[in-house]
Amino acid sequence: MSFGLNNFLKKFLPKRLFYRALIIVAAPIILLQLTISIVFFDSIWIKANKGMTKSLVSEVKTLFDSFDAADSETIIFLTNAYKKNFDFVININKSENLPTTRSDRRFSPMDRSLRRELKPIFGNNYWFDTVTYIDLVDLRVRTDDQIIQIFFPKSKIAPSSVRVFVLWITLPSLILILIAILFLRNQTRPIVKLSKAAERFGRGEKVDDLRPSGASEIRKATIEFDKMMKRINKHLNQRSEMLSGISHDLRTPLTRLKLQLAMTDKKDTAKKMASDIDEMEKMLNDYLQYAKSQSEEDYIEININELVLDILENFDHSKYEFKVSENVNINGRKNLLRRSLTNIVENGLSYGDKIHVEIKKSVGNAIVIIEDNGPGLPKKEYENVFKPFYRVDKSRSLNRSGVGLGLSISQDIIKSHGGNILLSESKYKGLAVKISLPF
Ligand SMILES: Nc1ncnc2c1ncn2[C@@H]1O[C@H](COP(=O)(O)OP(=O)(O)OP(=O)(O)O)[C@@H](O)[C@H]1O
Ligand SMILES: [Mg+2]
Repeated sequence: MSFGLNNFLKKFLPKRLFYRALIIVAAPIILLQLTISIVFFDSIWIKANKGMTKSLVSEVKTLFDSFDAADSETIIFLTNAYKKNFDFVININKSENLPTTRSDRRFSPMDRSLRRELKPIFGNNYWFDTVTYIDLVDLRVRTDDQIIQIFFPKSKIAPSSVRVFVLWITLPSLILILIAILFLRNQTRPIVKLSKAAERFGRGEKVDDLRPSGASEIRKATIEFDKMMKRINKHLNQRSEMLSGISHDLRTPLTRLKLQLAMTDKKDTAKKMASDIDEMEKMLNDYLQYAKSQSEEDYIEININELVLDILENFDHSKYEFKVSENVNINGRKNLLRRSLTNIVENGLSYGDKIHVEIKKSVGNAIVIIEDNGPGLPKKEYENVFKPFYRVDKSRSLNRSGVGLGLSISQDIIKSHGGNILLSESKYKGLAVKISLPF
């Protein structure tokens, strides 16, 4: 039961903190105001209204009875006296009937109480109109041979304070809600800033404008997040510096080995060993190049379509087909993305001989799909090929000089942009690589 209610609330409550907090502040104010208004209307306004209407109808009845018994002189005297003392304008029409059209409103409290008081006294011999004139009510009552028409001010049956009262209770509430909005905005801003910083850090972007602000808990969270970010960055830098250092230092002994091999007598073995050493050198160079490019680049706005086209233009035009459905801009490190996409394009063209590239837009993501017509990959290898230096079935790719770093570097770059890379079977028989990058 409570689970259902929870789900219901989750579905209809706003998702953002600011609006939730606003509801917490504003809902009680509005509820209180509604309660006060209802109580006021019911117990004070409607009751006062009833009392006033009752006394007005009694006045009219008195007038009506007096008119019945009076001669024409007394009638003129009464008419003038009522005009002077009560603001009543009285007309007497001899040969007229009551209007046949109803002009009273069914749900208006004023009309309802007038009806309720008039009916027991005059039966069906009355007619009134509260709508035509702004400040006046037109009431007509029929006697045996004439119609008495009375115009009286509306204020006689409706307390005029109602508007003032409503204004006085809504105005302070509106001011309160306005102040709450201003305060809440200031309180939620640091949380929004922190979550944006965390999002950017997660994507691998640089975050350097994180100033603690707001309530002490949020300040503390910001300071701790900043410390954690610096610690993680330090670890990452240490790791890549160490790897670069090792790769760099390894090149010297490798060169020495090559020299020594050149001088050895066993030419056959030497040749095989030299090719192994070449491969090792390529691995080291690839890694060093990657490590170097990663530390230097800044995030800029990139048009993915232009970038992909730029990469493809380095290849023979007959070898690729490019399809764009939308223009997509993302924030990223251009050279790294170029490297990542180039690796995948090169794979497609060396394992197949034609690739199909497509760029699409989905919710919050740019999607690049690169498909080839090569032999594809068995499903069980989909995960392995992302491991560094992993190559499927060496004999298949014997004619290639790859070292097996391409896909793992590509994946690293895409993930550092907060994106994802997925492999699947292509409709062109080969491999389909789907890259999504958030914009
Ligand atoms: N489009 C493809 N079709 C079939 N197999 C592929 C494709 N792309 C990658 N592979 C397989 O995945 C393995 C890993 O690819 P990866 O790009 O990491 O290394 P590589 O291409 O062998 O070497 P390099 O480091 O020069 O890119 C490849 O050896 C190959 O077996
Ligand atoms: Mg490759």
